[in-house]
Amino acid sequence: MSRKDNNIYEQINNPNEPAKAPKRHRRKPVLLNEMSPFAVKEAYKAVRANINFAIGAKKGCKIFLITSSVPAEGKTTTAVNLAITFGQTDAKVLLIDADMRKSSIHRYLGIKNTLGLSDVLSGYTQLNEIIKKTPHGFDCMTAGPTPPNPAELLLAQPCDDLLSTLSEYYDYIIIDTPPVAVVSDCLALVEKVDGAVVTVREYYSVHDQLKKAISALKFADAKILGFILNDSKGNGRTYKYRYRYSYRYNYRKGYSGYDYYDNYGDYE
Ligand SMILES: Nc1ncnc2c1ncn2[C@@H]1O[C@H](COP(=O)(O)OP(=O)(O)OP(=O)(O)O)[C@@H](O)[C@H]1O
Ligand SMILES: [Mg+2]
Repeated sequence: MSRKDNNIYEQINNPNEPAKAPKRHRRKPVLLNEMSPFAVKEAYKAVRANINFAIGAKKGCKIFLITSSVPAEGKTTTAVNLAITFGQTDAKVLLIDADMRKSSIHRYLGIKNTLGLSDVLSGYTQLNEIIKKTPHGFDCMTAGPTPPNPAELLLAQPCDDLLSTLSEYYDYIIIDTPPVAVVSDCLALVEKVDGAVVTVREYYSVHDQLKKAISALKFADAKILGFILNDSKGNGRTYKYRYRYSYRYNYRKGYSGYDYYDNYGDYE
């Protein structure tokens, strides 16, 4: 039985438990670049079009967040790649890492996380000190040091003020958040944004957890813009491309960082 089959087997036998993160996933980020397969780039462009369509005819800055039910479904990967894809138009794009418990965007982009969102929300620093330009066509605000109260910081007025200041300058603000079925941080943001995009990972996400996440989002009155099936092997005509893509990025063994999510970041 292959690793992939093993995962399905676990899900069928423990429908309420998430499958273990496939071991083939490696830590090296899967970032879009000019060498990425055509089908993958097109898939992100299709997502870009659909997000615009789902947000609708809104004037000014469009703000949306990326979330999922449990860890390791590909939120950060999706957020960074969408920032790259939106940045390929003439739009001004800002990517914010609002996962202050387990920040990772700085690692994906190879930048420092000494100052970030948590600092500006706590009033410790000024905006211009924490926004970094990236070579990928978008700006980025890293998460900053983990604060003791991430959900409260995101809920409070300074966060509204921050987004309204930023929306005067940017065309799109993309916010990476923690998983909804594990911590409530994302729910604190839903009323401040135009919608939420939910990522689901093939052979990993579990129906019950996804249902729980959707109920929580709906209860918080979130506008769900759509779902992204991440790490899909695809089928039919696109299978070959998707398979190659998957193969290229998944060969390293020993990945185990996301097998459990009882503790998310430093918190229980
Ligand atoms: N489509 C993909 N193909 C291969 N590897 C992927 C893919 N999507 C994500 N990964 C890998 O899976 C791991 C988890 O992805 P990512 O960090 O994007 O998930 P996450 O939902 O943000 O996790 P967390 O909840 O812990 O923040 C990373 O090592 C990433 O490189
Ligand atoms: Mg993440």
